[in-house]
Amino acid sequence: MASFSEISFAGQRVLVRVDFNVPLDENYNVTDNTRIRAALPTIKKLVGDGAKVILMSHLGRPKGAPNVKYSMAPVRARLAELAPGVELLENLRFNPGEESNNPAFVSQLINGIDMYVDDAFGAAHRAHASIVGPSKTLPSAMGRLLQKEVEVLSTLRNNPKHPFVAVLGGSKISDKLGVVEALLNVVDSLVIGGAMCFTFLAAQGYSIGDSLFEPDQVDTCKRLLSLGKPIHLPEDIIGLDADGKYATYGRRLPPGAKGFDIGPGSAAAFTDIIMESRTVFWNGPMGMFEDERFAGGTRTVAQAMADTKAFTVVGGGDSAAALAQFGFDDQVDHVSTGGGASLELLELGDLPGLAALREAPNAR
Ligand code: 3PG
Ligand code: MG
Repeated sequence: MASFSEISFAGQRVLVRVDFNVPLDENYNVTDNTRIRAALPTIKKLVGDGAKVILMSHLGRPKGAPNVKYSMAPVRARLAELAPGVELLENLRFNPGEESNNPAFVSQLINGIDMYVDDAFGAAHRAHASIVGPSKTLPSAMGRLLQKEVEVLSTLRNNPKHPFVAVLGGSKISDKLGVVEALLNVVDSLVIGGAMCFTFLAAQGYSIGDSLFEPDQVDTCKRLLSLGKPIHLPEDIIGLDADGKYATYGRRLPPGAKGFDIGPGSAAAFTDIIMESRTVFWNGPMGMFEDERFAGGTRTVAQAMADTKAFTVVGGGDSAAALAQFGFDDQVDHVSTGGGASLELLELGDLPGLAALREAPNAR
């Protein structure tokens, strides 16, 4: 396939799949426009070439029916400030044909269109109509954001500089099991924080009080711990005791206590590992950082990501939001716009959206 930069889109009607699934506040204002800004290099090239640009995206999960709560209007308003004169279709998921990948919906989308560009990395793991449909018949290309994301994440998966450490947090190990197993084949060590650490600590026989954990994943964690790759777990925990009072613990939590963050000792140990690595991938906060009492672990890891000389990649909405909240988002090498998509690409090495582009008429 000719690369996006080599194609001239002059005079073409170009349909561009973007991922403008952005957070909105209660008044439907866009609270984070990162995903809109991330598509600007692609939009600018197309507009600069003299193309007619038509963008399309989903927003939230309206389940196949129009719903004013998920209208694209606020996103369109923000887009108009950043890229005036560019069209944005209504929420694709207002039509049930989007998620069911209905050929009739694809035909409706590509009616009158000359070329398709996919720049929706954050949604490239969904085999939906707008992602896998247009490239069946239209000449297609990968937009600049999608290309950059694939380059960076494929390098982590296939050819990282060692030592390579993956720092994982968030609440559920079950959501990330596939990627944890895939990462264990390529990393030199794993660092585990966030609520998922309690399932690992339980697997090691520590008492975890009333902390969130996944009882049905304890055996899985035991197996992961026995594979021989170093898995670093927190050595201290911050949380609330049985009376709801702020407390710091070692690895053992008393009955009734709940852990909400890694402690300062763990944060320092994790910092050392990040500083000594040459590649770091971070996904998932270390604690409940939205609450200032439990933000310390995540802030320290974010600071280490900014300070290390390692090549640093952050994937996932929550860790990206934490990084931005603490002001370090411009100090890491790559902040992925995809959460699920970045994990699935690391796990499987391919995504439905990428496979579809390889089948485009101009790629075969
Ligand atoms: C995301 O925000 O993760 C992507 O836009 C995909 O959205 P989805 O999980 O609703 O498919
Ligand atoms: Mg750096």
